[in-house]
Amino acid sequence: MTTVERAAGAGLRRSEGRAKVTGQATYSSEWRMQDAAYAWPVTATIARGRIGAMDLGAALTVPGVLAAMEPGAAGRLVRGANPETWILQDHEVRFRGQIIGAVVATSAEAAREAASLVRVDYEQQPHQVLLDPDRELETTPTVNAGYPSTTDRGDVDAAWNSAPARIAATYSTPAEHTSSLEPYATIARWDGEELTLYNSDQGPAVSAPEFAALFGLPEGGVRVVAEHIGGGFGAKAFPRSVPVLAGLAAKLVRRPVKVVATRKQMFSLAGHRTPTVQHVRLAADTSGALTAVDHEAIMHTSRYGEFIEQTATVARVMYRTPNLRTAHRVQRVDLPTPGPMRAPGEMPGLFALESAMDELAHELDVDPIELRVRNEPDVEPDSGLPFSSRNLVSCLRDGARRFGWDGRDRTPGVRREGRWLLGTGVAASSFPAFALPSSATALAEQDGTFTVRIAAADIGTGARTALLQLAADELGVPPERVVVQVGRSAYGPAPFAGGSAGTASWSWAMIKTIRSLLADLDERGGVIPDGGLAATADTTEDIAGRSKLSRHAFGAQFAAVRVDADSGEARVDRLLGVFAAGRIVNPRTARSQLLGGMVMGLSIALLERGEIDPVHGAFVNDDLASYHVAANADVGAIEAHWIDEHDDELNPAGVKGIGEIGTTGTAAAIANAVHHATGTRHRHLPLTLDRLR
Ligand code: MOS
Repeated sequence: MTTVERAAGAGLRRSEGRAKVTGQATYSSEWRMQDAAYAWPVTATIARGRIGAMDLGAALTVPGVLAAMEPGAAGRLVRGANPETWILQDHEVRFRGQIIGAVVATSAEAAREAASLVRVDYEQQPHQVLLDPDRELETTPTVNAGYPSTTDRGDVDAAWNSAPARIAATYSTPAEHTSSLEPYATIARWDGEELTLYNSDQGPAVSAPEFAALFGLPEGGVRVVAEHIGGGFGAKAFPRSVPVLAGLAAKLVRRPVKVVATRKQMFSLAGHRTPTVQHVRLAADTSGALTAVDHEAIMHTSRYGEFIEQTATVARVMYRTPNLRTAHRVQRVDLPTPGPMRAPGEMPGLFALESAMDELAHELDVDPIELRVRNEPDVEPDSGLPFSSRNLVSCLRDGARRFGWDGRDRTPGVRREGRWLLGTGVAASSFPAFALPSSATALAEQDGTFTVRIAAADIGTGARTALLQLAADELGVPPERVVVQVGRSAYGPAPFAGGSAGTASWSWAMIKTIRSLLADLDERGGVIPDGGLAATADTTEDIAGRSKLSRHAFGAQFAAVRVDADSGEARVDRLLGVFAAGRIVNPRTARSQLLGGMVMGLSIALLERGEIDPVHGAFVNDDLASYHVAANADVGAIEAHWIDEHDDELNPAGVKGIGEIGTTGTAAAIANAVHHATGTRHRHLPLTLDRLR
């Protein structure tokens, strides 16, 4: 094979970029369908109770209406482990906004009009929606991603009682919403006993078998197509109600049915991030070496479903300490079940832990970077496992140099420019580097081109392009000769775009497949038979056989803020992040991922708060006018950098994943900078002006 310049490491533009910006890229609700109908959900207006009578009469008189759906008579589903997809099967109301019926019509407008005419009588029951740490809390054996709920090493209380330096503080974070540009959107089409769901989905090959079981079909009975996805942030990682409604409605009216959630509906139909209340205790000796870390996270889940964020697990990874206790406690409320939202666990967990580290640095009067360096562990503190690589200190040092940290006056509340109080802050970032089993196929054609198929989902990250680069390099040809096709469950088993594990997982299967293809080609003397030469591979065994190591990406975030001394308004003038996340395949899309993560962290620090109303029993600021998300004007100077990290213990591509690390640590860096600016410690997000005044 001729020598070709390596594609990985180059800043290729997204392979689908032109199609997207010219409107040629087909998103889920845009597939052209003969005779498509539209379903509009009827949603519950109470938080808890039973549906009594439902009057569909007026709805059925609207011109264009094909059918109306009510609970128990909308088509049968087979109950599985995921309660979010088991809709319209009984008369229970579990949360306000729940889909309790629907109208199907020949236009979306007619369906919407008719749905508004459906009359529902409820038997209402008292609801409880506010997380109250003083009410009953449960401890489950595990939390999200299978982590044990509690850990306890050494004697935290004894170390605490005898420590010369101590911090005990309670932090809180509010409920947050994912707010992807494209809402939930599905077209369902039945062909006999086979169902195709064009679905905005982070994991087409993961959801397809779940939908098949739900609709009582054999494995392979449902195909999911998710060619282009307008963002997910975790809300499209696990199936919820919208694609199921589309599937039921399409079966009922015997034609393709589209369902597109409104922005308002997304606030209840999509999973939200749970609010947290976090108790953190840090004890240290006079040199600043930690002698105890105690991190307890209190969260909510729904009464009918379980998603418990792994908020305190990050404390098991960050700093050396002989005594370490972590715990998760959960309370059941009458809201929709929360779900993953970009960096579930690490985002709120590091807000608390990295704020507490800043408080300890202030207490000891040491530089917050030096405090972290002093507590850098040799092995993962809780498990004792060696790290595959860990470059937090390099990130802190490199960030300090780039940011101009040296010579910083630690004294809080002393810098002023007119009305503005100025401050700087730092915090660490961390996120696990997972890899999940996947399969891929590769095809060599006689014209010298190659096609790789993998049921990956590119939710806007650039994953498709990164895969193209890695495939081209493995094949030893320029990217122009390679086509990477993603987004269809029919391409075989593959994990979702989640846990920052997409590229690590998919590229592993892809590289293995390509190696097998090239070996086969070699045996044939390089001759490609008529119809091409195909190969397929699966990484289930490779991943099961990995050595036991702690695999994590790390980073350091720096913030410069100003706070209006009169109004309390906080502005972030500068954000700078340095990350160590394995090999960076595409600097252009990687920078975009990291900057996007940091902006989301800024948004969470200053603006985002899902307001839960105890009377109505629901999120009340359910639109983007009242649920504030950072806009361009909220972001000052922002830079993302990375250090070259070579880690052979990850996967063949050497990548750690960059989807979520950028969101972690940002909020603590900003809160720490606000303390430096104002001299007041703020432990509750978001840092809105009513709190900072
Ligand atoms: Mo992501 S929140 O792991 O889909």
